[in-house]
Amino acid sequence: MSPFLLTRTLPEDATDAALRADVLHGLTRTPKTLPPKWFYDAHGSELFDRITDLPEYYPTRAEREILIARAPEIAATTGARTLVELGSGSSEKTRHLLDALPGLHTYVPVDVSESALTQAGQALIAEHPGLGVHALIADFTGGLALPGTPGPRLVAFLGGTIGNLLPAERATFLASVRALLSPGDTLLLGTDLVKDESVLVAAYDDAAGVTAEFNKNVLHVVNRELGADFDPGAFAHVALWDARHEWIEMRLRSLTEQTVKIPALDLAVDFADGEELRTEISAKFREEGVRRELAAAGLDLAHWWTDREGRFALSLSVAR
Ligand code: SAH
Ligand code: TRP
Repeated sequence: MSPFLLTRTLPEDATDAALRADVLHGLTRTPKTLPPKWFYDAHGSELFDRITDLPEYYPTRAEREILIARAPEIAATTGARTLVELGSGSSEKTRHLLDALPGLHTYVPVDVSESALTQAGQALIAEHPGLGVHALIADFTGGLALPGTPGPRLVAFLGGTIGNLLPAERATFLASVRALLSPGDTLLLGTDLVKDESVLVAAYDDAAGVTAEFNKNVLHVVNRELGADFDPGAFAHVALWDARHEWIEMRLRSLTEQTVKIPALDLAVDFADGEELRTEISAKFREEGVRRELAAAGLDLAHWWTDREGRFALSLSVAR
């Protein structure tokens, strides 16, 4: 096979149709919402990479620490020949896994961000000659069709991205991941853990304002793709801890009474002064909850590893 293949399972016009449907649905209900996958155009992917370097954003460093410490065990337990990574982004941390998996045949990064996949793919084939890289532009919540590469298969879902799904969506998602696996195949899942509120809120509301810019990027995406006239300066970034649900909620608060026009949808959306639009949740986990959710999907927790400070967990589970 050629060293780098890029397959688009999301046609460009389907992306457009999905964005229209999501924006129409999300902005005409109460409270207003927008789904998180629209953060990640080329600029959004770049902003997220900057978030991972922020002093307040500990999850990336904590997860990297675990990956470095546990890569040999992961390789020994999984014996993976195909590594599928969902929401792979820059694939930065994945290098530690690729280096540790001696028999790896193909790496399949899956992301909605074409720019992230192309950049990461080019760097990877230069660093790992002989490794097949088959990148998929696809929505990981929407029934993936994977290339027919050899097993055992290891699916990695890092960064705590599973926390960006609502509980019911998580159950559906984990069942769909299980459906990609044969008995004995494995899932490596990164989950951020419940901790002190001040630490959590700072990670999603950094002093330099990068997360605020990232949150508002979704408005730029709707402006560019659907001709809307959102004024990002007329919204404030809000990150708050919901103790009942144990998740961080990201919102954009309208700083004034305003009407936003979205010509591609023939829509005018009214915002009251102070009205909030929910853009993202980031759920935080405990070991028992993760074990239960995995088990409900047919995945048995085999390893639970945390960083030294106990902030973040990586779990390895095996398909029944
Ligand atoms: N795994 C990386 C990136 C995490 S950010 C890390 O740990 O640092 C989340 C990534 O998931 C982004 O690259 C984003 O483009 C991608 N993503 C978000 N929603 C997605 C979806 N529904 N389908 C596929 N990729 C998605
Ligand atoms: N998966 C990341 C997380 O939940 C995504 C993320 C980090 C994010 N910071 C953000 C999403 C700010 C929206 C806004 O930690």
